[in-house]
Amino acid sequence: MRIFSGIRASGDKTLGNYSGGYRQYRATQEQGEGVFCIVDLHSITTAYEPEGLHEATLAGAAMLFATGIDPERSIVFAQSHVKAHAEAAWLLSAVTSFGELRRMTQFKDKSAEQEFVSAGLFTYPVLMAGDILLYQTDIVPIGDDQRQHLELTRDIAERFNSRYGTTFTVPQGVYPEEGARIKNLQEPERLMSTSAGNPQGVVRIVDEPDIIRKKFKTAVTDSEREIRHDPVAKPGISNLIEIMSVAVGKSVDAIERRYADDAGYGPFKEDVGEAIVALFDPIQDRYRALRADEGALRKLLSDGAERAREAAAPTLAAMYERMGFVRLS
Ligand code: TRP
Repeated sequence: MRIFSGIRASGDKTLGNYSGGYRQYRATQEQGEGVFCIVDLHSITTAYEPEGLHEATLAGAAMLFATGIDPERSIVFAQSHVKAHAEAAWLLSAVTSFGELRRMTQFKDKSAEQEFVSAGLFTYPVLMAGDILLYQTDIVPIGDDQRQHLELTRDIAERFNSRYGTTFTVPQGVYPEEGARIKNLQEPERLMSTSAGNPQGVVRIVDEPDIIRKKFKTAVTDSEREIRHDPVAKPGISNLIEIMSVAVGKSVDAIERRYADDAGYGPFKEDVGEAIVALFDPIQDRYRALRADEGALRKLLSDGAERAREAAAPTLAAMYERMGFVRLS
């Protein structure tokens, strides 16, 4: 079974990304052949700094390895290192309609925020479809916000298959369960994200231990003292219970039971903070080691790119052939 996911290049990944992304990638790696792509070509569709992209690409790769993706077992690479992605996007743009792209809610939201709306922002989902389809992907672990893009990918695959003959596996999306959606510690009604919300409530994977402790100590709760999971009535405390569950690998029920007779929120918040410090400590060590040796990191990316090129080549060749292009040799 082939598993593919694309990860946006960025240096400041959060506890939310850990829970909904990296944790899932590591788990799926056990179920089949994992292909994990740092989607640097997608980064240029909105305003960006070239130095920032460079740094974020290396940081993104290091974080995948640091959180447990094994370069022996899985393929990890940067999208721009495998030209098939850019080519596939162009070919697939022939089987994607203007109307479909215009309906994408991410395009509508993001274009409203931009002063300059690039053509790339509009065709972003076609590049993404190519990422997935080039690898005959069965399963795509992905965030909820990407559901519409994945559905479009499936439609594109089916349209290509019926127009040109069966070429692609039609992929299935796998979305994080409810408990994996970590909220901002200061604003527990909104998802934890670096792009919006109170930064004091956003825990980064690379935050210093004391910063992490402080963020949990000051997390918003409610005026009761009951440690009970009830996301509607008690969003703050429920979020902390879910975070604890991610940190120690126990169920929400088990955490509730453990703290049922405990004295108040203070000690619980401290325990959650310590559990996250302990969870991120080895990840931070590995991350720092990987970032300190850029040569080794580039070698890992170069090996990954080579394996990705090989894996993508037959599908790209089949696309050209079935679409009627003259092939040399
Ligand atoms: N659009 C995805 C996101 O914003 C990133 C992405 C690009 C992706 N290509 C992909 C995810 C292919 C899964 C599969 O998170």
